[in-house]
Amino acid sequence: MQEITLIRPDDWHLHLRDNQQMKAVVNDTARQFSRAIIMPNLVPPVTSCDQALAYRQRILTAIAPSNNFEPLMTLYLTDSLSIDEIKLAAESPFIHAAKLYPAGATTNSDAGVTHIDNIQQVLEAMQKHGLPLLVHGEATADNIDIFDREKVFIDNTLIKIRQQYPELRIVFEHITTSDAVDYVLSQDSNTAATITAHHLLINRNALFKGGMNPHHYCLPVVKREQHRLALLKAASQHPGKFFAGTDSAPHAQNAKESACGCAGIYSAHAAIELYAEAFEQAGDFSSFESFMSLAGPAFYKLPINKEKIKLTKQDWIMPDSLTFAEQTLIPFKAGQTISWTLSQ
Ligand code: NCD
Ligand code: ZN
Repeated sequence: MQEITLIRPDDWHLHLRDNQQMKAVVNDTARQFSRAIIMPNLVPPVTSCDQALAYRQRILTAIAPSNNFEPLMTLYLTDSLSIDEIKLAAESPFIHAAKLYPAGATTNSDAGVTHIDNIQQVLEAMQKHGLPLLVHGEATADNIDIFDREKVFIDNTLIKIRQQYPELRIVFEHITTSDAVDYVLSQDSNTAATITAHHLLINRNALFKGGMNPHHYCLPVVKREQHRLALLKAASQHPGKFFAGTDSAPHAQNAKESACGCAGIYSAHAAIELYAEAFEQAGDFSSFESFMSLAGPAFYKLPINKEKIKLTKQDWIMPDSLTFAEQTLIPFKAGQTISWTLSQ
């Protein structure tokens, strides 16, 4: 395969941050994708429709005129979010989901949900009003091994939510294990999952190869090779249930390369090319367009994009670093050869 033409994709899980940092990264995504689901884990988090709409305006102002891009906003669930706010969100044409961060699970999740019992009415309202639930699916208790957190979340929490609210549309975000793949495949069309490019491309050895590598640290943490292979198979062979969500999560170089490096990998700069690399490894591009451009809109009940893009088999080198407001950002695969090029 030397050339691939496909409908312009959307990114179904993206962190843009805010203000100067947001301005530094947003056009990396807007240049390639038509739309993106914007994560609400700002400081403070986006917990009201007013905040989501104001954030949307700040994003729109930062988009270069040559990029035709629509940010799809989300709300951050807390123990105390009201069902009125859920109703308002469901009625807004600009807000497309609410995100469940178990408190303490990841970057800026301290205000997240401390126990699922605290949001029962909210989940009921989301089911009733048709607002999708996006889940960061990791159990957080200290006694749970970090590599097992996704599976424990499925067993202890997700199965219960699914049974209690069968009509609630749930996206199991950035899945990392064969357990999550099997779970999603066992469910009906109200359950789907996003998969990142980095979880398709690296396993947990990458965290320690040649010394500790903070640029490969993200949450959920990358897993064993057998799980990466299960993700590759899911993305490339199960059209409809799985779709692209980069979880591109910029942190300045000094925040990554510190005694306590932040979780998050920046992949937006070359997201589509990185997914193409992954599908090439899987040896099967037949579901590439479904994964990148069709399954997401179908799940979110949004129109399919009209424009097309072209990828060509041509090497280029990922920059060693990018500017990030006053700071520096190290992109995923920095300094390495990427073998697909997106034409502009
Ligand atoms: C994300 C971030 O930095 O906001 N980090 C990450 O490792 N993925 C949060 C998240 O999605 O877990
Ligand atoms: Zn994320």
